Amino acid sequence: MKAIILNASPRKNWNTAQLLKAAQKGAEEAGAETEYVDLYDLNFTGCRSCLLCKRKGGERCKCFWKDDLSPLLDHVFAADVLLIGSPIYLGDTTSQFHAFVERLHFCTLSYDDYSNYFTGKVNVGVVFTMNAPQAFYQLQYRRRLTAQAEAFRSLNGKVQTLCSFDTLQVKDYSKFSMAGFNAEHKQAHHEKQFPLDLEKARQMGAELVQLAGSRGE
Ligand SMILES: Cc1cc2nc3c(=O)[nH]c(=O)nc-3n(C[C@H](O)[C@H](O)[C@H](O)COP(=O)(O)O)c2cc1C
Repeated sequence: MKAIILNASPRKNWNTAQLLKAAQKGAEEAGAETEYVDLYDLNFTGCRSCLLCKRKGGERCKCFWKDDLSPLLDHVFAADVLLIGSPIYLGDTTSQFHAFVERLHFCTLSYDDYSNYFTGKVNVGVVFTMNAPQAFYQLQYRRRLTAQAEAFRSLNGKVQTLCSFDTLQVKDYSKFSMAGFNAEHKQAHHEKQFPLDLEKARQMGAELVQLAGSRGE
C-alpha cells in the first residue's frame, strides 16, 4: 500500500505542510508506506505541449518531458493514495499545483474519444488552506475549488477534500503591514481550530488508505 503526499505550498512547515504531515501520519497508521514531496523543491513547469503522450502506439498515462516531475507522475499513477495540498493564492490554487495537475491529467486524456486512459485506482485527499473564513469561501471559492478537487476523479478512486479556513499566515502580525487582519482573532482561531483540522487531516489519510485496502488489492 503506497501513499504519495505532495505539498504545493512553497512553505515547508506551515499550514498546508502541517496538515499534509498529519494526513501522512494517518496514512502510515493505517499501514501505508509513504513518500512526501515538496513540489517547490522540484524543477518543473506545466505541460510543454510536446504531445508525445498522444503519439500513435505510444505508452499511455506517461509524461515524456524530461524533468523532475515525470518520474513523480509515474509514482502517482502507481500509488494507492494521493494526498495533495495547496494554499489559496488570489482565489486559486498555487502555480505548482496547477502545473502538476496539468501534467497529470493531460497524459490520461484520450484525444481520440476524450475518454480516460487511466485504468488504475488512486484515492485522493485534497487539502486547501486559506486566509478566508468559511463564509467567504462558500461565496467566492467553493465552486472553483470543488471543481479542482473533482478533477482528480480521473484517477478513478474516492476524492475527499479538507479545507482549513482563516489560517495564521505569520507568527507575529505586528511585524507586517497586515492591518486588514485581526491578529488576536487569527491567533485565537488558530489555537482553537487548527488542532481540529490536523485531526481531520489525520483521519482523512487513514480513511483513504483503509478504503484502498478494502478493495482487496
Ligand atoms: C501570494 C499569496 C496570495 C494569497 N491569496 C489568498 C487569497 O486569495 N485568498 C485567501 O483566502 N488567502 C490567500 N493567501 C493566504 C494563504 O492562502 C494562506 O495564508 C495559506 O494558509 C498559506 O498556506 P501555507 O501556510 O501552507 O503557506 C495568499 C497568500 C499568498 C502568499
